[in-house]
Amino acid sequence: MFPAQPSETLKMPLTVTPSGATCGATIHGVDLRAMTSSLAEELRAIWLKQKVVAFPDQKLTLDEYQHLASFFGPFGEDPYFRTLPDHPHIAEIRREADEKTPLFAEGWHSDWSFLDKPPALTMLYGAVIPPVGGDTLYADQAAAYDALSDEMKEHLDGRMGIHSARRAYSPAGAYGERDKGRSMAIVYDDSAMATHLHPLVLTHPETGVKTLYLSPGYTIGIHNMDDAEAQKLLFELYAYQSSEPFIYRHTWSAGMVTFWDNRTLNHAATGGYDGHQRLLHRITVAPRD
Ligand SMILES: [Fe+2]
Repeated sequence: MFPAQPSETLKMPLTVTPSGATCGATIHGVDLRAMTSSLAEELRAIWLKQKVVAFPDQKLTLDEYQHLASFFGPFGEDPYFRTLPDHPHIAEIRREADEKTPLFAEGWHSDWSFLDKPPALTMLYGAVIPPVGGDTLYADQAAAYDALSDEMKEHLDGRMGIHSARRAYSPAGAYGERDKGRSMAIVYDDSAMATHLHPLVLTHPETGVKTLYLSPGYTIGIHNMDDAEAQKLLFELYAYQSSEPFIYRHTWSAGMVTFWDNRTLNHAATGGYDGHQRLLHRITVAPRD
């Protein structure tokens, strides 16, 4: 009889438990401190398929967390957030127990889609998680595109959305000069008035799957379309793209890390935790090319 090696005895198999919605899965059996290039590729294939994945019960220092992100691509650009002094790629998503400001990121969006090269991936690490509320909603935009009528698919084909950070981060925006008492380190700026075009229907650069790429947070118009017509269409699409069949509601726990694919998901914060602090650490990862 040969006893199993301790490492074999202790090593848990990697398991993927889908959420039951069209996107979202929980991954057990991975210690994210022990990342390798081959494990990162294995995880990449999983999150490309599941779109958002959660790793509960991780024990990472901020150094380890920032190092972990580097396995998945170059760090993303992070305008309008002041990052941590010793960790230039980590921003705090913070809300204090007694904070009265409007909830941050409650509107649907894909992170920084107003940039020329928006982040492929966002990572969040739950540091302080309230006992109630604070779920994150994800809306599967590949499923939303797939369920569109053929007429609408044809109508959107080849159209470019106009993206801008102005509704949020310009001086007149939601987090601009009128936004007082917020604990997050947001830096609003006139540069948020800039616009950038992206296809309304994006072909995912890694999977080839077609997906809607627009949001009420950052899509302010449609290029070469009369504005009244564009706004009518956008409002119709905003309501459609975040409707129930496409939603996964994610519940947090302390020590949980999530990764999600901004190219095929919109997301939105929810409240319901007044009187409790909430703190997550965010890193964005740029596309590989
Ligand atoms: Fe976000």
